[in-house]
Amino acid sequence: MRVLSGVQPTGFPHWGNYFGAIRQHIELQYNEQAFYFIADLHALTTVHDPKLLEQYTREMTLTYLALGLDPKKATFFRQSDVPEIPELTWLLMTVTPMHLLEKCHAYKDKKAKGLAADAGLFTYPVLMAADILLYDSDLVPVGADQVQHIEVTRDVAQRFNGLYGEVLTLPNAHVVEATAKVPGIDGEKMSKSYGNTIDIFEEPKKLRKKIMSIKTDSKTVEEPKDPDTCAIFALYTLFATPEQQEALAKRYRAGGMGYGEAKQALYDVALAYFAPAREKKAQLESDPGVVDRILKDGAGRARAKGQEVLNRVRNACGLGKASS
Ligand code: TRP
Repeated sequence: MRVLSGVQPTGFPHWGNYFGAIRQHIELQYNEQAFYFIADLHALTTVHDPKLLEQYTREMTLTYLALGLDPKKATFFRQSDVPEIPELTWLLMTVTPMHLLEKCHAYKDKKAKGLAADAGLFTYPVLMAADILLYDSDLVPVGADQVQHIEVTRDVAQRFNGLYGEVLTLPNAHVVEATAKVPGIDGEKMSKSYGNTIDIFEEPKKLRKKIMSIKTDSKTVEEPKDPDTCAIFALYTLFATPEQQEALAKRYRAGGMGYGEAKQALYDVALAYFAPAREKKAQLESDPGVVDRILKDGAGRARAKGQEVLNRVRNACGLGKASS
């Protein structure tokens, strides 16, 4: 069974990314043959600053490694290091009906807002189909917002197979439920597009400042408070043990505790939770070549499998074997 997923380097990884995807990816590496990649070609549809793209790619790679992704267990690579992907993308585009892409939400939403979409955004789902189909992937763990893209991938693969025979493996989506609600500092779902994120490796002073700015109601210190409607408490549960959660919930309900105290408690558990990863990240960063080495090694392994599938596809279409 091959599990594959990609993550776009479009920002600094935050708590929402960790509890919504990164953690589940890392867990899956133990049971299945996992392929994970940094989707920098996809990121080019939104990030047009080369320095920033480089920085985000490096940061995302270091984040996965620091949090426990084992590059010996999982095949971990950068999408743009695999030239078979854009080649397969083209071959798939020749069998992709326009109407399949016209209904995809990223493109549709942009158009609905009256904004001009470029061809990259329009064909984004085909690039994603190539990512998946290139390695005969069986299972694609993604957030609910990506399920539509897996459906497109299946449709395109079926269309290809209908024309050329059973060449491509149909993948299944595995919807990774966000293990819990991850509110941002304004109480809404944590998301880069809302500007309410707390980064995983936020510098401690800044981390504290961000936590102190989390929105709360205006209850006084004396008043009893409701942990179940409080963003601070929701975040606290992500990091704290059940006993710690129970103890803090009691203090909420009893009154006599201000939100400042709850924020301090959140700061303490969050800092402790990511402390080993922070240390690992610093250790990785002390070797400037490590990111490139790991990604190159991963790309080599990904390409070995990818070339096998691409040759199958090329043969099926009448192009013959790729010259290597
Ligand atoms: N589009 C995905 C996202 O924004 C990232 C991605 C690119 C991906 N290629 C993929 C995910 C292939 C799974 C499989 O989250």
